[in-house]
Amino acid sequence: MNKNSESPVGVFDSGVGGISVLREMVKLLPGEDFIFYGDSENAPYGTKPAREIRELTLHSCRELRSQGVKALVIACNTATSAAIVTLRETFTDIPVVGIEPALKPAVHIKERPRVLVMATPGTVAGDKYRHLEQQYAKDAQVISLGCPGLMEFVERGELDSPALDDYLEKLLAPYRGKVDDVVLGCTHYPFVKRAVSRVIGEGVPILDGSGGTARELKRRLAASGLLRERESGGTVVFEGGVARKEELCQKLLREED
Ligand code: DGL
Repeated sequence: MNKNSESPVGVFDSGVGGISVLREMVKLLPGEDFIFYGDSENAPYGTKPAREIRELTLHSCRELRSQGVKALVIACNTATSAAIVTLRETFTDIPVVGIEPALKPAVHIKERPRVLVMATPGTVAGDKYRHLEQQYAKDAQVISLGCPGLMEFVERGELDSPALDDYLEKLLAPYRGKVDDVVLGCTHYPFVKRAVSRVIGEGVPILDGSGGTARELKRRLAASGLLRERESGGTVVFEGGVARKEELCQKLLREED
């Protein structure tokens, strides 16, 4: 499928979480058109075996590529971990940008900080994450916490509720007062950042990889001569299972960080 600078950018996530990355890309590249494909029907990915995640991701990305996207952004830590190698081998003619937990900025906030990484069970169990953890093991004490069930709150649009506070209290209470910063290693989690902050302690910095991923997309488009000239007027289309949650998608896209 031919591509040029006027072609859209394809963005993939298992559900609505990747909209936390999409909103950063829209801010940074307001002239670009985006097709956001969220596979809510098969979500959650984070509790599935890597092989199944790879197949589902490949299937959705083929759908995006068939629509002529000029680049693919995998706005999902779990899918990046399981499938980025296969995706880069499959789509050799376009930039394929992934996301991983933002450990790099998190370990630099002080001398040997204690960093709590919240991610899906699939991400923390993957080889890719193990390598990342090893890379920073001498600079920080990294605590990796799989959070099964957390993405479902965001999929339901439940960003602030007593049930969410209860869930987070059970999960995070053991770490309160014991960590220097928190990394949100799943793209759904930035939408519950306020609730996480309330539970872990308001002064604790909370980081995620969405801004870095948006900047990486811009660099890769520029390097391939695929950046669009215009500076406004870009569009966003929602496809896949999330198309049935258009109202929630639009709300999340407008949600302030
Ligand atoms: N949004 C995804 C991530 O960044 C995963 C959510 C899921 O499907 O479990 O890891």
